[in-house]
Amino acid sequence: MPAVCGQSGQPDPQAIAVAAEAGGIEKAEQLACELQLPLAALDDASFPLLLVPAKGRLELRVTGRHPPGPVYVDFLGGAVDYRRRRGGGRRQLIARAVGVGQGTETVLDATAGLGRDAFALACLGCVVTAVERSPVLAAMLRDGLARARAEATGDVQVILDRITLLHADSRAVLASLGESDKPDVVYVDPMYPVDEKQSALVKKEMRVCRMLIGDDEDADVLLSAGRQAARRRVVVKRQIHAAVLGSDCDAQYVGRRIRYDTYHTHRSTK
Ligand SMILES: C[S@@+](CC[C@H](N)C(=O)[O-])C[C@H]1O[C@@H](n2cnc3c(N)ncnc32)[C@H](O)[C@@H]1O
Repeated sequence: MPAVCGQSGQPDPQAIAVAAEAGGIEKAEQLACELQLPLAALDDASFPLLLVPAKGRLELRVTGRHPPGPVYVDFLGGAVDYRRRRGGGRRQLIARAVGVGQGTETVLDATAGLGRDAFALACLGCVVTAVERSPVLAAMLRDGLARARAEATGDVQVILDRITLLHADSRAVLASLGESDKPDVVYVDPMYPVDEKQSALVKKEMRVCRMLIGDDEDADVLLSAGRQAARRRVVVKRQIHAAVLGSDCDAQYVGRRIRYDTYHTHRSTK
């Protein structure tokens, strides 16, 4: 299925609409107005995707026969919570790639998506600016953060306090940073084309997000912008068999399904 957004992240209003569950029409109308999306009925399959305020959260639903379950941001449960409790702390590849414990304190996550990596980095103690250009995903992230902040206590509240969300294009954000705002690390996890062999490895959430935003074909521009702005390095997350972005990645941290490629910045030698 073709993606419904261009590289601006702005959705095609033919392909996604906001729908309301019983009693939720006011919230749905407000959301449709904010995101400039049409309103549709819950059973309207002429839109491949519906954004539905339901069960106190924002759900992205696929329409049609045998759809996968809804996608929503959840920082306090499921895989994200498991990764926080059992993910392996500083032994994780992401921690080593980013340089946690070796001087990295601030990270600009230039491709925030559903916020899982941003949250993982915040769990590792990083202060994270999470930037997402898709208005739909940014709205889902804002909703997930607000719900988590309302419910979390103790350590998790501290972790959430380390995350700032921006709805913007990271290329513009990186280009506009003043010297004192430059992050230690720019983290990039672009949506990349998936071939048949890999498609079974791609999780449901990312398959549904791909329907919304397609592939991030301008990831190389983000890498260059990151290398101009980061103080220490740029980290690019890739599927294990995906081609390396650019020509001069300087280290790889390779896992079973994914790897992290790191790049020197154009500002310093390391
Ligand atoms: C593969 S997803 C990232 C998933 C994320 N790491 C997570 O843990 O949920 C890629 C995301 O980056 C966003 N993106 C791509 N290029 C961007 C840019 N230049 N500025 C902001 N967001 C961008 C896309 O809209 C998409 O949501």
